Parts: sequence; C-alpha cells; structure tokens
Amino acid sequence: MDSAIDQLPLALRAEIDELPTLPAVVSACLDELHDPRSNSQRVADLMLADVGLTARALKLVNSSIFALYREVTSLSHAIALLGSARLEEIILSVTLPQLFGKGPSGTLVKRIWEHSFATAFMAREIAVRVGCTRPADAYVAGLMHDMGLLVEARCLAAPMRDFLKTTADHPEWNLQAERQAIGADHTMVGIALADHWGFPDGVREVISYHHAPAGHGDPVAIIHVADRCAENSGLAIRELEPVTAEEFDLTAWCRTVLPSSLALPDDLDLVAGSADWAGQVRALVQELIHIG
Ligand SMILES: [Fe+2]
Ligand SMILES: [Fe+2]
Repeated sequence: MDSAIDQLPLALRAEIDELPTLPAVVSACLDELHDPRSNSQRVADLMLADVGLTARALKLVNSSIFALYREVTSLSHAIALLGSARLEEIILSVTLPQLFGKGPSGTLVKRIWEHSFATAFMAREIAVRVGCTRPADAYVAGLMHDMGLLVEARCLAAPMRDFLKTTADHPEWNLQAERQAIGADHTMVGIALADHWGFPDGVREVISYHHAPAGHGDPVAIIHVADRCAENSGLAIRELEPVTAEEFDLTAWCRTVLPSSLALPDDLDLVAGSADWAGQVRALVQELIHIG
C-alpha cells in the first residue's frame, strides 16, 4: 500500500521531503519522557547538551503564556515549577518552528502558527479539566492538527489563498473543496508530515479526523473543541471574526458534536474568552516563529 506521502501532489511531497527530521536530541528526550522509568533529570541532561534547544525552551517558559511571575533561568528550575510532564510540550513547541526554518513570509503562515498554538493550549486546558492522564498528548496533537496547512501555505500559497477566499463564508472547513484546489487536504498532508517526524498513531488519528470527530474517541473530540475555541477567540486560519460567549453557546455546541462520554466543563469560554489570552498567544508566536 502507498504511504501517505505517495498520495500527495509532487510539490507537497517535495516540501515535506526537504524538511529536516526530528533532531536526535529531541527524539532522545521524547523517548525518555515516554518511558515510565524516566526521570526528569535525565531529560534535562539530554537537553543541556543542546544549548540552542535549552535557550529556546527557557524563552518559552518565561513568556507571558506560562504566567510564572518570576524569571526562570535553568531547566531544573523550570521542571520544579512546571513539572517534567510539560517538557514534551515545551520541547516540541520550540523545535517545530525551527524545523520549518525561515520560510515564506505572510499573514497566512502566521495565522496558521497562531491557530496551532492556540489549539494546543486550549486542548491541554480541556484535557486537564476532563481528567486526562497525559495532557501533553492533547497539547502535541493540538499543535500538529493543522500542520498540513502550513506545508500547503509554504509551497502552494496562491491556490491556498484562493481556496480560503472562496470558502470564507462557510463556518465549517470544506475538505473536499480543499482537495479540489490543492490536490490534497491538510489531513492527508498532516499525516505524511507526522510520518516524516515519527509521531505516534494517536497524533495521526487526531490529524485524520479532527474535522469529523464522531466515533473517534476523546482525543479527537478534544481537538475538535479546542479548534473551535481557538477560532472563536479570533485565532482562526480564515478571517473569521471572534465570537463571544453570548453569540455562540459552546457547551450546547459541544453536546451536539461530542461523544456523551466526554463530560466537558461548562466554563471553557472563560479561557479562550479571557481578554488577554489571544494577545498572549500572538505574542508567543511572534517570539518563536521566524517568518520572512
Ligand atoms: Fe483542520
Ligand atoms: Fe484547526
């Protein structure tokens, strides 16, 4: 059977092939973090061997989104304050933008990053509130769910902009129209990218089904909701207006799209709707992403 990348148009295949694979130090850290016998000091030691990775991680930890109220100057201090469970989120948050490197500039690329980080933070928040044992999985899946769009925006910017323009009036994302315009949709491209970087099946499942979560379990449902929360707060890939809690009943909407097994809290709007949240995400992306 063809692998995911073989089903993509040539330009998208070439774009993915040219992206670096995960650096060895990052893979080693992730393996260690997934090992039940791991300890945070070993991960910190691995990270410290890469000065750039450590510096970028500390910069992220000190950004306003983590709201630590005091400067963190070492990895061990960061682990003490945040817990080692967040290391995976931090490592991937600072690594993925590096892997894409300096690419085409423009509003679309920036919006995709803002939306991706917003969805990751929201997914993590939801996962914590519904009692998931590994909220980091939700964060990583949130960060990755639309990465296929980033690949498309980098190499097929013009058809991508046309597609976004022609579907701007539709609240739901139209995967079929995307396939007609681009030759593939971002779930297909995202899977090929997840394969390229060796992400686990859980991330691949979220990428595949985040626009149609019915029957695909809680992780997919969580990203579906986080995706909508990010959009409602104005961190959307398309030019959608922010939606207030009065205009959109998130809890009622969740009941229609989610498995009844997933008991979401009633106050999700509080996070995405808080006045400075979207601004914090934008500021973070400004810091982390090298656009242009
Ligand atoms: Fe998507
Ligand atoms: Fe999305």
